[in-house]
Amino acid sequence: MDPWHVDDDIRRAETLPAAAFTDRAFLDRELATVFARAWQLVPEPAGRGDAERPLVEQLAPRGARVPFSLLGRPLFAQRGWDDDELRVFPNTCTHAWYPLVPGPSRGPTLVCGQHGRRFDCAGRFVSQPGFGKDVPDFPRACDHLAALPARPWRGWLFTRLGAAAGGRDLAASLAEVDASLVRYPDELQPAASPGEVREVAGNWKLHAWNYLDRFHIAYIHRPPGGLADACDLATYTTELYDDAVLQWVYARDPTDGLDPALLPDRFRDPGGRRVFALWWFVWPNLTLNFYPWGLSVNVYQPVPDRPDATRFLWYHRVRDPALHAERDRRWLSAQVDAEDVDALAQVRAGLRSGFAPRGRFAPDDEQAAHWFHRRVSCEVAR
Ligand code: FES
Ligand SMILES: [Fe+2]
Repeated sequence: MDPWHVDDDIRRAETLPAAAFTDRAFLDRELATVFARAWQLVPEPAGRGDAERPLVEQLAPRGARVPFSLLGRPLFAQRGWDDDELRVFPNTCTHAWYPLVPGPSRGPTLVCGQHGRRFDCAGRFVSQPGFGKDVPDFPRACDHLAALPARPWRGWLFTRLGAAAGGRDLAASLAEVDASLVRYPDELQPAASPGEVREVAGNWKLHAWNYLDRFHIAYIHRPPGGLADACDLATYTTELYDDAVLQWVYARDPTDGLDPALLPDRFRDPGGRRVFALWWFVWPNLTLNFYPWGLSVNVYQPVPDRPDATRFLWYHRVRDPALHAERDRRWLSAQVDAEDVDALAQVRAGLRSGFAPRGRFAPDDEQAAHWFHRRVSCEVAR
């Protein structure tokens, strides 16, 4: 049996071993399995002025293209010229590997800056000086750009690095998320600040585990004045799906809760309590957090070759600007973040101490954490 195997039975299961959070070889394996198969959110542009507009807005005109990097891989998203398709391509020329798209641009074709190879918006080789009719067997299939799958979703773009890997389609992975949002507005406004990208200490799984750890709320986010006060913890609910986990809870103060008109009837409480937030975790490293004020999106990206580092992406989309301005006071946004950052730093020291045995799971309180450890162990094994 694999040394990182996690039992399907939560009562018997041990956590992933500490080495799974520190080993470079384990990270390589995750990148080749988990992150080749799973859908990944395309990061929002980090430019200034016009270049910081949301990605899908920049990609709206025909022929528009925007470069980005995902898990250390250079890519670009491209809107079709002859069709309306959004495509994702490697940002690497097929001639001699020069980057093709240095910044956002637009046009029916794209010309490489090193020796002038020209591609159309569907990634097909068009022409290149010096490559006339006397070059046999040209262009080959690999002289065109190989498209990665691209899927827009509610104003975001997703892609998958391993085109042929046996993952599910994005719509299937997000089916339960969509079902919870049928009454939540589609049109959210980008927040005034475009978002935040932080490099933080700790393996990506430590961040995901922390997010899924409802057990720590009563301790790490404790009263007085903590998340444990703002919520009615006795009503905390964890729902496990194939590719997603939903955590939700009723607010202590109904005025802090989501208007029931924004949610499906199954969240309605005859006693008038209101849902504090929908906290969705989407396998393997995305969280979508729906509050009365709008949506907070977090991504925990691994950093190749550095198992102890995570690129933490944080974006807001606003439904109600007045409520958004109150997110720190009423939904404790900054406080919970700071408490989690501190807890995580302490766990990180423990797991590197040389004294960290494999843990166990409290069967009623750690179902989401177990789901996550189990899923990692299955994915790296196949
Ligand atoms: S590297 Fe692009 S044309 Fe040579
Ligand atoms: Fe937390």
